[in-house]
Amino acid sequence: MANTVLVTGGAGYIGSHACVELLQAGYQVVVVDNLVNSKIESLKRIQEITGKPLAFYQVDIRDHDALADVFAKESITSVIHFAGLKAVGESCEQPLMYYHNNVYGTMVLLAVMAEANVKQLVFSSSATVYGTNSEIQYTEDLPLGAVNPYGRTKAMIEDMLRDLSAADALKSTGSPWKIALLRYFNPIGAHGSGKIGEDPNGIPNNLMPYVAQVAIGKLVQLSVFGDDYPTPDGTGIRDYIHVVDLVKGHVKAIEALNGEKFASGGCKAYNLGAGKGCSVLEIISTFEKITGRKVNYRIAPRRAGDLAEYFADPSLALKELNWKVEKTLEDMVADTWNWQVKNPQGYN
Ligand code: NAD
Ligand code: UFG
Repeated sequence: MANTVLVTGGAGYIGSHACVELLQAGYQVVVVDNLVNSKIESLKRIQEITGKPLAFYQVDIRDHDALADVFAKESITSVIHFAGLKAVGESCEQPLMYYHNNVYGTMVLLAVMAEANVKQLVFSSSATVYGTNSEIQYTEDLPLGAVNPYGRTKAMIEDMLRDLSAADALKSTGSPWKIALLRYFNPIGAHGSGKIGEDPNGIPNNLMPYVAQVAIGKLVQLSVFGDDYPTPDGTGIRDYIHVVDLVKGHVKAIEALNGEKFASGGCKAYNLGAGKGCSVLEIISTFEKITGRKVNYRIAPRRAGDLAEYFADPSLALKELNWKVEKTLEDMVADTWNWQVKNPQGYN
């Protein structure tokens, strides 16, 4: 019998791509999502792409009994936990909403998992847990220090998961927790079919969806936040990663949790990034080259809280998960554009 993976937040941007990858790799998929930031249409599209069914429960992960019911009905063997709120600015305005949803929600999920004796978990962490560092290429052993409430929810959840795993060492009975913390750099792009992609509500906060909406004429002008950083062209540098490469890392992580490396349990962090940086102006010029559209932009002041430059050292994921990125920046742009053109109003 195929392994069954519970995907929390499976209707969202990254979760929907993960569902496709899992179904294509032969896993059964169960999605739990409260649709606070996604549409049920994405789940239909996943089934169109793969030709395979998935089970869906419209449940909030903070609802213990409803979640326990899902575990009672489905033979879940592992969990990929994407469900969470992710807007940095909103988290500064409404921190308690973020702590309640992300931290408390994860506590409920972990309690239900323990009750059902399902102890394999892949968690969506973020490069944001590194905070401000003197290094620009991040390795997993750098000190952590998130600088906003959203980032702190990720750091707190990581701490909680490390504690949970460490507690296994104090017990002589029961199966141990097996946990992979995947620290994403900047996921962009969309599935090659153009059927699923990023569908932000309102005006996008992030660079790539903003650029795509300017290119298609939905938004008038991109503001480039700062051209006076100590980088070659003065604009911010990030490590962009194709969402399909990113979710392949999750399938590799599930395989690793089932394998020799985690045979006696453990909780380990892995960077998922390309390992190289790209500036805002490089993103714009690649977008213009691939799409033939002009991206209207102006130089604006720096955005509060932004760092000049950072990118991943992804060598641990290569060594222990046998994972590395395969797609180029051109692929990321071409797939973003394909999704944007085919779905100018997102899933609506
Ligand atoms: P998304 O908003 O598209 O997906 C999150 C999904 O979780 C949505 O479908 C939402 O409806 C659901 N959800 C939220 N709270 C829930 C709750 N209490 N109960 C049930 N469902 C709930 O976001 P995404 O970009 O796909 O991100 C997925 C995960 O990856 C998040 O945890 C995010 O913090 C993390 N992450 C994202 C990025 C990024 O740039 N997109 C970077 C690093 C980490
Ligand atoms: N940028 C602009 N104009 C915009 C939006 C962004 O110039 O309209 C610039 C930013 O200043 C930055 C780069 O584009 O230099 C990327 O910005 P994003 O907002 O796309 O992404 P961030 O690197 O700020 O943050 C993202 C997620 C976070 C996550 C982090 C992990 O939004 O949630 O990656 O590295 F924590």
